[in-house]
Amino acid sequence: MTLRISPLPGVGAEITGVDLAADLADSTFETLRGAFADHGVIFFRDQTLSEAAHIAFARRWAPININRFFAAHPVHPEIALVTKEQAQKDNIGGGWHTDHSYDEVPAMGSILVARELPPSGGNTLFSSMYAAYDALSPGFREMLGGLNAVHSARHVFGRAPDTAYNRTDASGGRIGNPDAAEALTDVVHPVVITHPLSGRRALYVNPAFTLRFDGWTVEESRPLLQQLYAQGMNPACTQEFIWRPGSVAFWDNRATWHFARNDYHGHRREMHRITLEGEPLSA
Ligand code: SIN
Repeated sequence: MTLRISPLPGVGAEITGVDLAADLADSTFETLRGAFADHGVIFFRDQTLSEAAHIAFARRWAPININRFFAAHPVHPEIALVTKEQAQKDNIGGGWHTDHSYDEVPAMGSILVARELPPSGGNTLFSSMYAAYDALSPGFREMLGGLNAVHSARHVFGRAPDTAYNRTDASGGRIGNPDAAEALTDVVHPVVITHPLSGRRALYVNPAFTLRFDGWTVEESRPLLQQLYAQGMNPACTQEFIWRPGSVAFWDNRATWHFARNDYHGHRREMHRITLEGEPLSA
């Protein structure tokens, strides 16, 4: 098999000619690492990854972060279940976000494997935070470089979520773990980070978890944040991934946002997600 990396418009690259369940040679692994750093999200098709192989592939990249908010796989707690049941109206991840920006050391990324898909819909959108940053003028970029932003998850996963995030599971219970969310303290990250793998600059605010600029009020922060979010949602920065059986997406939380479409009511969708530990972020 010949490994091939095909960049996609907006963000990401599709990689063919590799079996993720195999014991990959170091040189193959380094090629994948380079593609991950360059493109922010890498997609694979026609994979046959068992749960054990999913875990083994993930461990090759970094230690696994056990999710505090989602249900765990009954046998493999390293795997978080991203499931929407047939009768459920709300989904997980149905808005632009990057995972774990509310952590002091945000997760590197996640490896999502399709296990059960609806007949149509349930695509995932991705957006490049490299491209969003690069599209800004030099003067604007310089101004942003002096700012930090405050991030939290309490308004999403906590006991009294904002109405936009008050999501319920198939039995009418809350999606998430409010006690774990309430235990979080707000964290501050640079608005523009230097990506730890690629060395490139990336915009690091997101609509779900960024509350405000550090030292600014929520009201003062809103217009500028909305402007940056509009840039992140610009179709020139985005790519829509259409899942098929055997598809795998591996995204970098420091270089991308993602958004799980919720357009398949009446059908079940089950994805297995493994999230990987990251490193401290700096400007
Ligand atoms: C997520 O991790 O935000 C969910 C992504 C998806 O289900 O497509």
